Amino acid sequence: MNVLAIESSCDETSAAVVSDGRVVRSNIVASQVDLHARYGGVVPEVASRQHLAQVLPVIREALDTAGCTLADIDAVAGTRGPGLAGALLVGYSAAKAIAFGRDLPFLGTNHLEGHIYANWLGEGDEPRFPALCLVVSGGHTDLVLMRGHGEYERLGGTRDDAAGEAFDKVGRLLGLPFPGGPAVAREADALAASGAKPALELPRAWLHGTFDFSFSGLKTAALHAVRSGKYTTGDVAAAFQESVVDILAGKTSRLARELGAAEVLVAGGVAANRRLREELARRCPVPVRIPIPRLCTDNAAMIGAAATHRLRLGERSPWDEDIFSTNSWEVPLPSAGDRERR
Ligand code: KG4
Ligand code: ZN
Repeated sequence: MNVLAIESSCDETSAAVVSDGRVVRSNIVASQVDLHARYGGVVPEVASRQHLAQVLPVIREALDTAGCTLADIDAVAGTRGPGLAGALLVGYSAAKAIAFGRDLPFLGTNHLEGHIYANWLGEGDEPRFPALCLVVSGGHTDLVLMRGHGEYERLGGTRDDAAGEAFDKVGRLLGLPFPGGPAVAREADALAASGAKPALELPRAWLHGTFDFSFSGLKTAALHAVRSGKYTTGDVAAAFQESVVDILAGKTSRLARELGAAEVLVAGGVAANRRLREELARRCPVPVRIPIPRLCTDNAAMIGAAATHRLRLGERSPWDEDIFSTNSWEVPLPSAGDRERR
């Protein structure tokens, strides 16, 4: 099955052709980072308009790169939140229109489920269940037990900032370029490469007895460290990153052990972080699967992978389906079978 997938939830316009839910035949990502950098964050209105300008050229390029035409496509998928409403509407409407015009099956696909399914892309064995998923993106930090395809139970999550959001805010207070996550990681890596250890330690909110997270206190502690004028940018960046990584890897490894998970699946933009990847692999008692960095950040191939599993079960979205207007995991992922079948 060849799925054409379109993703436009935030500031990347992306289209992909994915075969059988695992083979990436193309995955074009047009980033808007430069456009938003001057504002120090994503401006929703600017993002929507840029998606509109980019979406058809990106789809064209995805088809050309895959060496196919719409005649070779069996189904179309579009990201259906969480995300910025105006941004989501562009890719989602384009996907719906192509499916309608070609009389193809269409499936609106949850963005976070897409991040998780990036772990199905590529060669080798498929992930095994029960899998513990650590979802760490710009808007979400969640520990989710996945018992089977489409079966999720949220066991913990952030009570305030998402991990990526905290990276971005600390990047901003350190005066680093947008987006803050990769910039903070680069500063921390540079300090480590020089052989130095960070000159300070920042606190960790363990929230014992839960699998929840809190990063707002850490962010404030980083702010005080910057204001004290006693530390270099590298010191604060590295100390901050070590706190986040320690908590994420510590809680994930403990929960994986308690649950007897078969595997740990890591998902979302922060999964591109080198220290997080190292520490999860070192501490988890079971195999840890993390997509290659460019499949961790927003891309359409992951949406194609997630959609394929549902399309195979016969799920289809009705033509009057809306995008999710929420950006919270509090609205549970749709479980397999609760969508209208056609
Ligand atoms: O999943 P994603 O691409 O978009 C959302 O769905 O939110 O995640 C973006 C987030 C941003 O907060 C970004 O700063 C962070 O992922 N990020 C990183 C790294 N690369 C991206 N955070 C830490 N280290 C990185 N290497
Ligand atoms: Zn994302």
